[in-house]
Amino acid sequence: MERSLELAVVIPTFNERGNVAALVERLDAALAGRCWEVVFVDDDSADGTADAARALARQDRRVRVIQRIGRRGLSSACIEGMCATAAPLVAVMDGDLQHDEALLPRMADRLAADADLDLVVGSRFVPGGGTGDWDRDRVAKSAFATRLSRAVLRVDLRDPMSGFFMIRTDVARALAPRLRAIGFKILLDILTAAPAPLRFAELPYVFRLRTEGESKLDHVVAMEFLIALYDRRFGRVVPVRFAMFAAIGAIGVVLHMGVLILLHLGLGTGFLAAQIVATVAAMTGNFFLNNALTYRDRRLRGARALFGGWVSFCLVCGIGAFANVGVAAFLHDARTDTWAVSALAGVLVGAVWNYALSRRFVWGR
Ligand code: GDD
Ligand code: MN
Repeated sequence: MERSLELAVVIPTFNERGNVAALVERLDAALAGRCWEVVFVDDDSADGTADAARALARQDRRVRVIQRIGRRGLSSACIEGMCATAAPLVAVMDGDLQHDEALLPRMADRLAADADLDLVVGSRFVPGGGTGDWDRDRVAKSAFATRLSRAVLRVDLRDPMSGFFMIRTDVARALAPRLRAIGFKILLDILTAAPAPLRFAELPYVFRLRTEGESKLDHVVAMEFLIALYDRRFGRVVPVRFAMFAAIGAIGVVLHMGVLILLHLGLGTGFLAAQIVATVAAMTGNFFLNNALTYRDRRLRGARALFGGWVSFCLVCGIGAFANVGVAAFLHDARTDTWAVSALAGVLVGAVWNYALSRRFVWGR
């Protein structure tokens, strides 16, 4: 009988064709004598990463490929990979050779030796670890993000931003339904999803430089990271979409006042006309900002969809303005000493109205 499968290595890939073969060779050397498999989870890379991995898989039964169509996302790719293996241990590792595969057997031994541990994290920030030749800018950004996650999420880990770890597969599978699966930070997602704190150990490794292909970490990824942090910490109290919608609404107020001042005070336009132009300008600005940010995952594209969305957004907000004024006036009539509270209550009701209805009628599916 063949030996039973011990370990799976999940590799999320997006345009990593040039790294696939070298990676499998390195895994073969590092995991000699063990029974392992590697699961590439590719988001339909245009460079043919999945084809390169399948070419290897035909020769080597330890290589598996999941090709996702019409999907993007490092975290969600890792989750699907982790749920797709029968191995009792599963590691997540980058596909660009930046993580040190020599750590894998030591991670597995550690988990085998200590039944109390749920996972082992490859860490750049414990003695013996490092970030290699990073420039000062990236060192600073990484340190900031690390501090922020430690503070916001209260995880006591030297390297919470690590994307290199090994976990017991049943633990990962049990947590999978609770994961948010947004952005790059799958480890943070796992650690903060667990109802009881996970028991972990950190092992040092040195982050290598990338030689083939390029990094996918960009401004969108950075924004998704901040959104994910917010969502974990405060998302239950104020949903992240509503928080973004409200923040953009506040920008709209500033825009409105700016246009009003420019037209009414600057150019001498009559107040009513200036107020109408300012309102339309603010609604238009808010519509495009919400379309690009709050609803970036279901963004309206193309002239027709955008025009239709803009019209319904203006209608929703127009009615929202009546709700706002109505509530404020009602409260103010009831108790004349509370004008500021009345006004704020009106704004809040208007904002919730706009949010709820535009979510349904502008960006609804
Ligand atoms: N399937 C899939 N989908 N894979 C992706 C996607 C995606 O949308 N975006 C990136 N990847 C893959 C890349 O192909 C690579 O194998 C791995 O995820 C890491 O992406 P990089 O673009 O190389 O990220 P990085 O080097 O800036 O950061 C990585 O290393 C850090 C240090 O350990 C990330 O893994 C971080 O999470 C990690 O902390
Ligand atoms: Mn990388």
